[in-house]
Amino acid sequence: MFTKNKLVLKKKLGFGTLAVHAGEEPDPETGAVAPVLVRSKTFAQKDFGKESKYQYSRGKNPTRDKLIEKLEALEGGGTATVFSSGLAAETAFFLTLSPGDHVLLCQEIYGGTFRLLDGFLSRFGITYDFVDFSTEESIQKGIKSNTKYLFVETPTNPSLHIIDLSLVSKVSKKSGIPFVVDATFSPPCATRAFEYGAETVIHSLSKYIAGHNDILGGSVITKNKKLAEQIDFIHRTLGAVLSPDECYRVLQGVKTLELRWKRVSDTALVVAQFLKKQKNIKNVYYPGLPSHPNHTIAKRQSIGGFGAVISFELYEHSFRKLKRFVDTVRKYSPIIYGESLASPETILAYPPLMSHKSLPKSVRESLGITDGFFRLSVGFEDPADILEGLKKGLNIFN
Ligand SMILES: Cc1ncc(COP(=O)(O)O)c(C=O)c1O
Repeated sequence: MFTKNKLVLKKKLGFGTLAVHAGEEPDPETGAVAPVLVRSKTFAQKDFGKESKYQYSRGKNPTRDKLIEKLEALEGGGTATVFSSGLAAETAFFLTLSPGDHVLLCQEIYGGTFRLLDGFLSRFGITYDFVDFSTEESIQKGIKSNTKYLFVETPTNPSLHIIDLSLVSKVSKKSGIPFVVDATFSPPCATRAFEYGAETVIHSLSKYIAGHNDILGGSVITKNKKLAEQIDFIHRTLGAVLSPDECYRVLQGVKTLELRWKRVSDTALVVAQFLKKQKNIKNVYYPGLPSHPNHTIAKRQSIGGFGAVISFELYEHSFRKLKRFVDTVRKYSPIIYGESLASPETILAYPPLMSHKSLPKSVRESLGITDGFFRLSVGFEDPADILEGLKKGLNIFN
């Protein structure tokens, strides 16, 4: 038997150290350093009539437990529950509400969250409103007697507005209504949501946290013990669990989170600066640019850079020309045209037909997501190779 390699904790471990070691230690039996993947669906029970720690993998699984422990350490506490996708995590979270409850949302949210609330949970009497979360007054105005959560995304998808978490925290404290952050676009190496007073943090693990374009997953991490119990119950009851193989990939992928975040943030800044100079582009949205309206908040709230995602709006709205733009970008660079973000590959997405297709066109356009709107998530390629494709693509408008 290998003895436990217990660390003597003289001080709080840094993020990079936790990303590698939290939830893991060499396997006591073999000394294996990479986490042991336990695929078993069922577990032998030692004693008749006595519950074992592991019984059936829908409820609890050893590989999943390692991931849970790591996510809790990285987020800075709380109780984590992981799900088969980010949307499954959100569904579990919102299902803790009851008919008649209300949620206050920031003005721009992921299209799938909108579809969940508008097309599904509304049938069960759960209501929502969007408000401008940029001032205390505007948030207060949206609060109703039945408001149960202040729910924000930061940066928002796809326009990358930064929600000031100190401000939300202030309103949350005054009103007694907990605030929840969908931090998919700002993983815990960058934004310490709990330190701002968030009660619950939700992630699509499919993005930065796993980071390699090869899994779907989601997590809810909460400081509220009662809520954690409810979510655990929903997790077991609905069965939208994360498989041991997926947990393993997240465990391995998250080890490089901080490194990846820094690399893509550096590249994205270079690309955003380039896009900003192009005359065919009406607007560039990147929190790292001093011209971004929330740049000051972003500097305070985002450690180690501003992330991989840049959005931009072209003057051109003609479908035929936009298609030529995308085809040219693909022809001259390794950029992929597709959904999603935060992967080794640079991905060019078109929110009007992808992530935000479920928003009514009028709502979408009122948010500035016009037909000329693109979202670019830079990967680990050399910046020059990304720029080459964009230059060639933008040339077609000259
Ligand atoms: C902000 C945000 N939250 C949640 C989700 C849903 O995550 P998943 O795709 O893992 O279901 C997404 C997906 O893009 C997202 O961008």
